[in-house]
Amino acid sequence: MKILVTGGLGFIGSHTVVELQAQGYDVIVLDNLSNATLEVLDGIEKISGKRPRFEKIDLRDRTAVQAFFNTHTDIEGVIHFAASKAVGESVENPLLYYENNLSTLIYLLQELQKKPEASFIFSSSCTVYGQAKEMPIMESAPIQSAFSPYGNTKQIGEEIISDVARVSGINAIVLRYFNPIGAHESNLIGELPIGVPQNLVPFITQTAMGLRQQLSVFGDDYDTVDGTCVRDYIHVVDLAQAHVVALKRLLDKKHLEKVEVFNIGTGKGSSVLEVIRAFEKVTAKKLPYQIVGRREGDITAAYANTDKANDVLGWKATKTLEEALLNAWNWENKLRTP
Ligand code: WQD
Repeated sequence: MKILVTGGLGFIGSHTVVELQAQGYDVIVLDNLSNATLEVLDGIEKISGKRPRFEKIDLRDRTAVQAFFNTHTDIEGVIHFAASKAVGESVENPLLYYENNLSTLIYLLQELQKKPEASFIFSSSCTVYGQAKEMPIMESAPIQSAFSPYGNTKQIGEEIISDVARVSGINAIVLRYFNPIGAHESNLIGELPIGVPQNLVPFITQTAMGLRQQLSVFGDDYDTVDGTCVRDYIHVVDLAQAHVVALKRLLDKKHLEKVEVFNIGTGKGSSVLEVIRAFEKVTAKKLPYQIVGRREGDITAAYANTDKANDVLGWKATKTLEEALLNAWNWENKLRTP
């Protein structure tokens, strides 16, 4: 069972490669190293005792994608992580996002549709729901017009996959992630934000490390328990395991439709202030922060209804917010230890 993982040296990708190898899958990783380093391969090898095959390929290079599939004719499944994912950057540079996130998907699908059958797992996002009317959010919630080009690439990506699966041997599972956080308990792989972190948890750990002066909390005037935004923070290892369960479902032909969609979250919402308090509790560190104005594009609340993932996919998150925050803090310490 040779499985291709694109973007396999990224945050979620690397944790998924570890879980795939633990289940005995033969993994080959493609990554263009735009948001990862080869040291991640060392971390994967140390954790799982096996170094996955790796090829440095930019999936925007259609010829390279075709050549790869001409060489590796025995790939049975693809987990597609490779994409740009910074919401703010996508607003500043939409064409980078439309080219990188959509052309790469198209080139991959063009190769897979040549096969009699192929299993495809797509990395999507709760961003496709925009501000859902009902909480927790179900997969049947309406897809609203995207808040950002990044979110739009996920919506368009899902539509492309549905159209292609309908007329080919491709069977797909779309996983709509909520907010991935944390790091592997071994401290050998974790999140590696480039520059100033956009996301909450890496900004918290860098602030606690003294790399940032204080955390800015973007608004406390939302209609929530304490006025700060609510999100569903899921441990990256729980998220990684969901990909393995989804892949196995397709390979074992247990899927009920050509394309199945699942929310991958904990089902629990936490406000920004609740995350800060949980972090202070598990690390016994006081986190300096100040309340500032809202961040453009933020929605008030998003947390998952996970019934479908639990009952149909047969997967459930097991790790707590506190565990994820402690893993993230331990990883931050490891990064800063020479
Ligand atoms: C979480 C909350 C901020 C930083 C993003 C993507 C989404 C998905 C997950 C890929 C918000 C607040 C943050 C800070 C803050 N990624 N915050 N101060 O925006 O929910 O989702 O990551 O699929 O597509 O949009 O995550 O971590 O940026 O923010 O107060 O310095 O923390 O306002 O309420 P977000 P986030």
